[in-house]
Amino acid sequence: MQRIPLYCTQKGQAYVGDSLELLAELPDNSIDLVMTSPPFALRRQKTYGNVEETEYVNWIKPFGKEVFRVLRESGSFVLDLGGAYRSGMPSRSLYNFRVLLSFCDEIGFHLAEDFYWFNPAKLPSPIEWVNKRKIRAKDSVNTVWWFSKTEFPKADVRKVLAPYSDRMKKLIEDPENFYKPKKRPSGHDISASFGKDNGGSLPSNLLSIPNTESNSNYLRLCKAFGIERHPARFPSELPAFFIKMLTDEGDVVLDIFGGSNTTGFVAESINRHWLTFEDKHEYLISSIFRFLDGYSEMAIQAILAALQDNQANYSLDKTYCNLEPVMTVKQRRAHISQPCLFPS
Ligand SMILES: C[S@@+](CC[C@H](N)C(=O)[O-])C[C@H]1O[C@@H](n2cnc3c(N)ncnc32)[C@H](O)[C@@H]1O
Repeated sequence: MQRIPLYCTQKGQAYVGDSLELLAELPDNSIDLVMTSPPFALRRQKTYGNVEETEYVNWIKPFGKEVFRVLRESGSFVLDLGGAYRSGMPSRSLYNFRVLLSFCDEIGFHLAEDFYWFNPAKLPSPIEWVNKRKIRAKDSVNTVWWFSKTEFPKADVRKVLAPYSDRMKKLIEDPENFYKPKKRPSGHDISASFGKDNGGSLPSNLLSIPNTESNSNYLRLCKAFGIERHPARFPSELPAFFIKMLTDEGDVVLDIFGGSNTTGFVAESINRHWLTFEDKHEYLISSIFRFLDGYSEMAIQAILAALQDNQANYSLDKTYCNLEPVMTVKQRRAHISQPCLFPS
């Protein structure tokens, strides 16, 4: 890239700018996975829903074309799009489906699989149809389109096995007693090998992930430094699922609508290289908090001052990234009372 990043870590670089311009600097066939969530509120509210939907597709299509160009043949593009209602109407916008059709029909992507992210913690909305008039159920599922450049993108679901249910655990412990091999009414032959321990069950395309992050390093430091948190973050489990399933260690993951850089943080934590593009300088400044676990307050102040230049090229040579739940307050106090891990 010719542009200078705002900051970089051992594994990645975060750039401020319009991602269409930044994408143009990337060579063809250079990225293994683009994982992103664009702004999906309908961009201009107009009276007639169809116009909004067409505008959205016209807006996002150039990004899709560039993503297609920069992806390797084995690469994937995962696009999280929340559903929406048509302005002032209790009927749904079709914009996320129009994006899907346009990317496949006009750009040449394959739909490798449609995923659905169920956020059980989502608040009821829209208030008018759900809470007040009670004529619609609450909307708590985002469509997540997994596009690929070819029909056989790199993918391995064994890297994202789901925990076994209690029933399945019992079956594995004592298959003889628990289950008699037989044919199901559906015709499926359930043999004794069904009780084999494969380390977890095959994941489904319905991902149940509450968006309830409350104690991350990012949120803690936003609060401590009086900086507004990004209003539309996705939970780290969402990019983690796709990054693990669709890439290997050392591969390159790109987020073209980076926001608070959840994707970069996840990629760094599991040893993937990453690039993040975000056009709001202030969002990218605070995203560095994700990588500053163990830094002293003075060091963080100095970093924030350096990042006022949007091409600061601030290099973090020591980062501590971990996808495990962050420490409790008590653990953290014990941790910070140790000598500071990183430079002040
Ligand atoms: C839904 S948010 C992404 C949030 C992110 N997934 C996270 O977890 O923090 C979309 C982001 O795209 C950014 N954005 C919108 N248009 C852009 C563009 N043309 N180039 C770069 N970033 C853009 C917005 O500023 C916003 O932060």
